[in-house]
Amino acid sequence: MKRLGILLSGRGSNLCAIAGAIEAGKLDAEIAVAISNRPEARGIAAAAERGLNARVIPSRGLDREIYDRLLIDELRANGVDLVCLAGYMRILSGHFIREFSMRILNIHPSLLPAFPGLDAQHQAIEHGVKFSGCTVHFVDEGLDSGPIIRQAVVPVFDSDDADSLAARILEQEHVIYPEAIALVLSGNFRIEGRRVIDQRGS
Ligand code: GRF
Repeated sequence: MKRLGILLSGRGSNLCAIAGAIEAGKLDAEIAVAISNRPEARGIAAAAERGLNARVIPSRGLDREIYDRLLIDELRANGVDLVCLAGYMRILSGHFIREFSMRILNIHPSLLPAFPGLDAQHQAIEHGVKFSGCTVHFVDEGLDSGPIIRQAVVPVFDSDDADSLAARILEQEHVIYPEAIALVLSGNFRIEGRRVIDQRGS
């Protein structure tokens, strides 16, 4: 069984969605470890409540690469095959990205390449787009820039603010993240340039 390592900094709803998909038999994997860089993250308490291996490795004040070496040690000690960023609010060092090359996924609350970086839902509202959504992508050394695995589109209504749009997007995040993880773990894809091609059923 493939082993996931989940990195988070906050609420942890995507972690719960991934754990739920595993429990429901929709995702053939196990969460080997969930790690928060913030002791107060609600998501790490949620992971512990679910009986998962939940670790806090505080990042405050630590140099990026030194911190990332601690993370790598913990992930390796837990035999992690695939790293899933789920609201992880730190940029990863090049060292970390090379250690887990093409084995790190992220979920971002916009239709990349639109609105990378922080406050993507606010950026979408301010820009006036009529549709936004979410993206699961491989992590490379750029900002939210790796090859796209899966996206979902949601409408933006005139009555929306960033919070109401974020809530609509989040529902879709919880659907596409487990699906993207399943595809990557299956190994049934190929990458052509930037395109991730799903080979299941073909
Ligand atoms: C999500 O909106 C995700 O797209 C972004 O951070 C948020 C994390 O939410 N990267 P949660 O902690 O999984 O609830």
